[in-house]
Amino acid sequence: MNALVVYDSTFGNTERIAGAIADWLEQHGSVRLLRVAKAQPVDLEGIDLLVLGCPTQRHKPTPAIQAFLASIPHATLRGMRAAAFDTRYRKPRLLTGSAARAIAKRLRKAGASLLQPPESFFVSAREGPLEEGELERAAEWAHQVLDELET
Ligand SMILES: Cc1cc2nc3c(=O)[nH]c(=O)nc-3n(C[C@H](O)[C@H](O)[C@H](O)COP(=O)(O)O)c2cc1C
Repeated sequence: MNALVVYDSTFGNTERIAGAIADWLEQHGSVRLLRVAKAQPVDLEGIDLLVLGCPTQRHKPTPAIQAFLASIPHATLRGMRAAAFDTRYRKPRLLTGSAARAIAKRLRKAGASLLQPPESFFVSAREGPLEEGELERAAEWAHQVLDELET
């Protein structure tokens, strides 16, 4: 398993979730963890799992994640196995929006195959911290993604 985890984070909370996901995946293969500002479409070459995540801001993914998604040629994403996550407030999704859902929609549209439904991890306030147990839940989600990759 050769995975790439690309994330954006303003206050560090999504970075911690991305780190927990990468740590778990690393026990089962090779993983690169990249902040979106440092990621390029060429980094997707040779990977068999793409995990993308960012904070939900104004109901949407961050501009940097949107730009990264737009920069990836559709041919690269076709058939790629992928998963999307976000951080946001624990409130009904209709009120908060969800960056992960928007990312997943975009990935699917480009022909990627989503291994798990988009997942949200919750912050207790704008700058964090994460709610208790969210890092463990992120590892569990990574576990499910990997199970699906291996079936
Ligand atoms: C400009 C801005 C807009 C935000 N808009 C939303 C929103 O629409 N829905 C939501 O649930 N949280 C919103 N938040 C809260 C972020 O989701 C929260 O800051 C984020 O999860 C923290 O992750 P980070 O530390 O990785 O930046 C917003 C935060 C900022 C700074």
